[in-house]
Amino acid sequence: MISINLSGKCGLVTGGTRGIGRRISLTLASAGARVAAFYRGDNNQAEATLREIGSANTHGQHLVYQADITNRDVVNDTVVRVGERFGGLDFLVLNAASGAGGSMVDMDADGWMKPFDVNVHGAFNVVKAAAPYLNDGASIVFISSGAGHDPMSGLSSYGASKAAVNHMAAVLAQELGPQKHIRVNVVSPGHTYKGDDDPNFNPEVWSQSQREIASTTALRRLGTSVDVANTVLFFCSDLSSFVTGQFLRVNGGRL
Ligand SMILES: NC(=O)c1ccc[n+]([C@@H]2O[C@H](COP(=O)([O-])OP(=O)(O)OC[C@H]3O[C@@H](n4cnc5c(N)ncnc54)[C@H](OP(=O)(O)O)[C@@H]3O)[C@@H](O)[C@H]2O)c1
Repeated sequence: MISINLSGKCGLVTGGTRGIGRRISLTLASAGARVAAFYRGDNNQAEATLREIGSANTHGQHLVYQADITNRDVVNDTVVRVGERFGGLDFLVLNAASGAGGSMVDMDADGWMKPFDVNVHGAFNVVKAAAPYLNDGASIVFISSGAGHDPMSGLSSYGASKAAVNHMAAVLAQELGPQKHIRVNVVSPGHTYKGDDDPNFNPEVWSQSQREIASTTALRRLGTSVDVANTVLFFCSDLSSFVTGQFLRVNGGRL
């Protein structure tokens, strides 16, 4: 029987204490990995997630660090701390993101730049700081968005930043593969329901707007953070050891 076992592996998840990132941290820890989760603001949420990760995997110490990924000095210092504590990194999940809505011509320059600052330049800061610590065969996973591939009205700067993320990942795969067999892939969620964290969550009970979104997928349901996290788990595991430079939509076959 094949099972996914990340015992002995360790790595970093940005935006790893909340939303989809929290589920990714929990899933990787449940598979046996030690996880360091970066967050920006919410200390209470970070502590709660750290406790959950610790319950999911009691075989090693997990870490959470407050680190605004747009601040290069903070990122450098914090990544060094994680790299030294773990003695190397086997995976890096670039999940933290910022979006800005509204029509492009009505957007001010700050609103336009923010998604680029976090999604592109922030990811660059983390990748650059983490590179010296990446172990042979490490896996980098970028979390993108359907908006980075398909034009979506009102998501111009977010979508353009995610398109840049897709290209960054493809180039990194070419650059890092030959050196230490590092793989780089993109997971691109569609509309993702994060309420599956709720203990009362019932996937059979959707609101009208959720039903409408579900009807645009081939599988006729909303995606959940579990769907995204399980795909990240695959990319972080040896089951995908010959897969790099790929872009995988997790969107239920959006029509
Ligand atoms: N939800 C969806 O339907 C959907 C669809 C397609 C793609 N995605 C992508 O999936 C990923 C996760 O989405 P989500 O909905 O879970 O996002 P979310 O709930 O908005 O959470 C964003 C995370 O990013 C962190 N973050 C934001 N700016 C940061 C910064 N400057 N430095 C450090 N961390 C920062 C936040 O930290 P704090 O908790 O400290 O604020 C938070 O943990 C994102 O890449 C998003 O683009 C989501």
